[in-house]
Amino acid sequence: LLTGQVEFLKGVVAMDGLPPADRMEVCFAGRSNVGKSSLINALTGRKAIARTSNTPGRTQEINYFTAGDSHYLVDLPGYGFAKAPIPIVERWQRLLKAYLSGRATLRRAFLLVDMRHGVKPVDAEIMKLLNNSAVTFQVVLTKADKLSKAAQDQTLEQVRSALAKHPAAYPEIVVTSSESGDGIPTLRAIIADLT
Ligand code: GTP
Ligand code: MG
Repeated sequence: LLTGQVEFLKGVVAMDGLPPADRMEVCFAGRSNVGKSSLINALTGRKAIARTSNTPGRTQEINYFTAGDSHYLVDLPGYGFAKAPIPIVERWQRLLKAYLSGRATLRRAFLLVDMRHGVKPVDAEIMKLLNNSAVTFQVVLTKADKLSKAAQDQTLEQVRSALAKHPAAYPEIVVTSSESGDGIPTLRAIIADLT
């Protein structure tokens, strides 16, 4: 599903610009710089279908990709610190929240958490929003290549206890690295299995 047939569709800056809600979609949410766009590239096997950067705040629109004609993949702007003017950042944040709480065809939100940092208060806030909107979310830990196995286990424990408070959380946590490819086939299979 994800390799070979993914195309960029459009960048959206307001809720009325969303494409027709005619198929299921999954989105990738998380703090700025956590690796959302890199993960989309890794999942689709395309080097730069989604634009990435070392500067937090690279993705500034809701970017839609089509995967065949059955799914949309949605790359979101990050939350938390971003190198962009405050009024602009506030506009994305409003759009992000409206999207996460108001998209009927959103089948699952992948909530990316940097494995070095674990769940931060802003992540917990987004979890609460998803939970209140009854959107199933699944945590994807990113940048696993930067940590030892022991440090990975420590983060996993912290994330598990943060998730215990949220009934909308899907219990399986996926550990990934867009750099090494670890966990990417697992996540591809999870997305392909959604109906
Ligand atoms: P915004 O769009 O700004 O919110 O960021 P983003 O979450 O889309 O992050 P992006 O994919 O642009 O990646 C941010 C930085 O992290 C880039 O410099 C990436 O190369 C790096 N990065 C992303 N994933 C990984 C990973 O798995 N391992 C390592 N080592 N670096 C990564
Ligand atoms: Mg991005």
